[in-house]
Amino acid sequence: MSDLILKNARAYIEGGLVDTDIRIEDGKIVEIKKDLHGEHDLLLDLKGLILLPGAIDVHVHMRDGKEAYKEDWFTGTSSAAAGGVTTVVDQPNTDPPIITRKRLDERISKASSQAVVDFLINGGVEKLENFRELYEGGVRAFGEIFQYRFEPDSLKAILDKIWELGAIATIHPEKKRCVEKDPLRPPVCEIEGIKDVLSLNRWGRMHFCHVSVPQGVDLIKSGGGGATLEVTPHHLFLCDKDRDRLGGYGWMNPPLRSDADRKGLWERVDSIDIIASDHAPHTHGEKLGDDPPPGVPGVETMVPLMLREVKEGNLSLKRLVELVSERPASIFGLGKYGKCGINVGSDADLIVVDMQEEKVIRGDELHSKCRWTPYEGMIGIFPQMTLVRGEVVYEAGAVIGGSGRYLPSLSHFDRW
Ligand code: DOR
Ligand code: ZN
Repeated sequence: MSDLILKNARAYIEGGLVDTDIRIEDGKIVEIKKDLHGEHDLLLDLKGLILLPGAIDVHVHMRDGKEAYKEDWFTGTSSAAAGGVTTVVDQPNTDPPIITRKRLDERISKASSQAVVDFLINGGVEKLENFRELYEGGVRAFGEIFQYRFEPDSLKAILDKIWELGAIATIHPEKKRCVEKDPLRPPVCEIEGIKDVLSLNRWGRMHFCHVSVPQGVDLIKSGGGGATLEVTPHHLFLCDKDRDRLGGYGWMNPPLRSDADRKGLWERVDSIDIIASDHAPHTHGEKLGDDPPPGVPGVETMVPLMLREVKEGNLSLKRLVELVSERPASIFGLGKYGKCGINVGSDADLIVVDMQEEKVIRGDELHSKCRWTPYEGMIGIFPQMTLVRGEVVYEAGAVIGGSGRYLPSLSHFDRW
């Protein structure tokens, strides 16, 4: 008996939409075919709605620990599920940071008991001597490495250590001397930062986080060596005028740029590898204070904002699936954990979408603990339903299940 048969889906398979049914067993897709049925099977009729592979957000800050007042694993991953994200890659700049195996293991166990979507955890880079133990605990990417916190020599030592392990270095590019001189962190800080990193002797995998200026995309893509990059929704949908309007709620690193830069990113949407949210929640109180901390929530609104662009004809559905699901899976090596689209043998990480259902985005209706969004009043197309490994985690506005797993613990192929 299967867990579930999805009837009458318009499923995104190999680059296009196909009318089909889908059989799910033990959390995996086992059959993709029309007219599936079974006497004892649980059927779910999707009535022709679109079925997409769940999104993989490779840059989220789930907080927890001493910052659980901003976000915790349950609220953060509920927000992910409600936004069609079925796997998140958590950043290690928590309080306390994830720089030892003990902290990693504690975080895995906390997340395993609270998360409703699957997750990976990146390793922090403050203690070189601990990189191996973090790797042995499942870490395959280190960072985001805040370039502006390190002198070039120590940055190089960190990268070499990561590459010795065969892991991925993920870099937040902003040049130290530049941001120390100018707290507004203009584009030149990021551009010079990217140039410095590209000029290092690179012999391993390098991924640039949240590139916010078109020149940065061009530098990375013409720099050779196969470096990859992500762009955030806030740099695609907001600009410096919004920063003036939003005050502290519009402050993040790297900051919002000019409208020309924003448009330049859209013009390069075919060169971008990944769209990732940099979900970085802070409280209303913090954002309204004199010195608001940088960061905006975004894991729940990323796919909905992008789906609206698909509906408006500004982006193909194929490109969207590449940007939020296929490329993240291939760059972060998630295929071996079953994250490989709507195919027989893949995890049934799926989202059901009605392209007619446009919704005004309201911060107080989102599932993040912070209850605000920089996209207040904008339009999104939110998923109707989200499944993680075949389980309905989110449906019609409510999180109704889910038991997120640390992906390395699921692996049959990759033992450490
Ligand atoms: O705006 C940001 N907030 N940028 C970062 O790189 C970190 C993040 C955070 O953790 O709040
Ligand atoms: Zn960052």
